[in-house]
Amino acid sequence: MDSLLTDQTAVITGGASGFGRAIARTFADHGADIIVADIRTEPREGGEPTHELIERETDRRAEFVDCDVTSPDDLVVAVDAADELGGIDIMVNNAGITNETDFLEVTEAEYQQLMDINVKGVFFGCQAAGKKMVETGGGTIINMSSAGAYRAMAEISTYCASKAAVRTLTYALADRFGGDDIRVNSINPGFSNTQMTANSALGNGIRGRVNAKLIKQTIPAGRFGEADEIANVALFLASDMSSYVNGESILVDGGMIHT
Ligand SMILES: NC(=O)c1ccc[n+]([C@@H]2O[C@H](COP(=O)([O-])OP(=O)(O)OC[C@H]3O[C@@H](n4cnc5c(N)ncnc54)[C@H](O)[C@@H]3O)[C@@H](O)[C@H]2O)c1
Repeated sequence: MDSLLTDQTAVITGGASGFGRAIARTFADHGADIIVADIRTEPREGGEPTHELIERETDRRAEFVDCDVTSPDDLVVAVDAADELGGIDIMVNNAGITNETDFLEVTEAEYQQLMDINVKGVFFGCQAAGKKMVETGGGTIINMSSAGAYRAMAEISTYCASKAAVRTLTYALADRFGGDDIRVNSINPGFSNTQMTANSALGNGIRGRVNAKLIKQTIPAGRFGEADEIANVALFLASDMSSYVNGESILVDGGMIHT
């Protein structure tokens, strides 16, 4: 396959683990330099830090920036760090968490933490990247939403609310940046195999095995997704292959939502 992102630079929040790590590696394989913006360097699933892996195994540059997405200032630092690699072309607002507290038990602190990471982090990530891209003449923003923005589940009510906000924010920003040559899209994955679901009552964790079996019966593909399958869609959205795709939310869910 031809390199789709030759000499571009991408900032990826939550790039240490899971989807973010797979996206970083896929983008580097296609010619991009990478800023990994995360609160941790070690992947949650174990292994070599993403930036070190990319520098060792590809011919691209990769740097880690200590970035808590709940801090708009940290996000500006992460976007500015891309200047040394040629300037930001692609922003992936991927960092996110979940909780599985029953709706009636959710505390204000839990609600606030999740919303700060999943919504405020994406909002100000888009703002930091958008300001820079307006100055430099364009770019692409990809926000990580979820199938939970389409079909809500009682066990993850706060999470679903946050991901619906990300989906709708994406539409608003496609409108805001339409004249600035900046495309803004979201990816809406279904259940996928990362540490997020490994530790989840809804996923593959010990508590979740029964639920996971039931959930898989509702997925036409009959299985959870893999991080590389999300990364391939991110590659499409980041590249000129999707030059007329804007303000779109793409389900990557093995057919779960629409069947
Ligand atoms: N795994 C799934 O089934 C699934 C499905 C739909 C959507 N998503 C979304 O995809 C994104 C990535 O999820 P994942 O499954 O790869 O999770 P993960 O837990 O494997 O990785 C998340 C990464 O985000 C980082 N992170 C957490 N809080 C942060 C913060 N405050 N600032 C910066 N980085 C922070 C973590 O350190 C970690 O490296 C999330 O937004 C998640 O909601 C996941």
